[in-house]
Amino acid sequence: MVDEEAVLKSLRTVLDPDLKLDIVTLGMIKDLKIEGRKVSFNLELTTPACPFNKEIEESARRAVQSVPGVAEVEMRVSARVWSARPSAAGFNELSNVKNVIAVASGKGGVGKTTVSINLACSLALAGAKVGLVDADIYGPMIPKIVNIVQAPRLIANNRVDPARIMLGIKVMSLGLFVDDNTAVIWRGPLVASAVKQLLTEAAWGEVDYLVVDLPPGTGDASLTLAQTIPLTGVLVVSTPQAAAAVIAAKALRMFRRLGISVLGVVENMSHYVCPSCGAASPIFGESAVEKMAEELDIPVLGRIPLIPDVSVNYDKGLPIVMADPSSPASKALQEMARNVAARISILAHQSKAKAE
Ligand SMILES: Nc1ncnc2c1ncn2[C@@H]1O[C@H](COP(=O)(O)OP(=O)(O)O)[C@@H](O)[C@H]1O
Ligand SMILES: [Mg+2]
Repeated sequence: MVDEEAVLKSLRTVLDPDLKLDIVTLGMIKDLKIEGRKVSFNLELTTPACPFNKEIEESARRAVQSVPGVAEVEMRVSARVWSARPSAAGFNELSNVKNVIAVASGKGGVGKTTVSINLACSLALAGAKVGLVDADIYGPMIPKIVNIVQAPRLIANNRVDPARIMLGIKVMSLGLFVDDNTAVIWRGPLVASAVKQLLTEAAWGEVDYLVVDLPPGTGDASLTLAQTIPLTGVLVVSTPQAAAAVIAAKALRMFRRLGISVLGVVENMSHYVCPSCGAASPIFGESAVEKMAEELDIPVLGRIPLIPDVSVNYDKGLPIVMADPSSPASKALQEMARNVAARISILAHQSKAKAE
């Protein structure tokens, strides 16, 4: 007969590389059963998109196999995304949304929408339940760059069932409700209420990660979001140029002042990758993002190369991570998504630890 304590002791030697704690303490071992020489358990990961999942799985299996007397290991792997959001009191509509990730930038055209949509897709590809809000009220792009599989529908109590795009991702965008030629000339308060409505009048159901693509800068939409919806954190996108990094830093400081966690910064258009020969060149010179991240003490969660395919694929209605998973841009975007998920698990763990 295998000793349960010996199995747990061995599993305690397996650390989650992000959280720096063992997987038993983290509560990842569920339904441990010992029948004679057979050990079965469920390994419950903190996100399906963690960069270290495979490593944790293999180490856990090896740890159990090494226990004297064990002849067979049956390990089931699942993931239950941890929530790293302050309590959502007063926001029943969002009560089953575990994490809200705001994607912001100092200025426009740096790749916020590109990062948002590819982040959403990468997380969904990993198996997470994902939602996407296009909060760029003045220039809603998402309905234009991805195929809408199912239109939004009005359901009971005047709530809206969000539109669906690929992989079952739920989407809300003002672009779904106003026609292309209507210029939006709203002033501050209207913008604020439109953003709030997109988030709170939708019936989101269960969502692990809700990605919110913000308009550039620190205007009304960003402020409203920060002040009314409990956010997990903000991800800031910047290009490598000093001018972009300086305003990105300004936006970051504003979010910090509002008490919002900063997940990190993503450097987009890091370097140019030649589509024919694959050679990389730093067309914007030395990056200012690294230094800015160091000064503000935040991680750089991704460096996305400038590749023409990224924008060309917009026209096909598919983001690059789906249209061409082997592109260096897709690989960089997928890695970014795993880093974001890992960072959220760390924040969730910290807030759990604080609450206990
Ligand atoms: N890494 C990249 N490589 C090539 N083109 C890119 C890349 N990132 C963004 N783009 C293109 O740059 C333009 C602006 O990007 P977008 O994501 O819409 O920026 P924002 O939302 O910040 O205004 C789009 O045409 C997009 O396709
Ligand atoms: Mg945009």
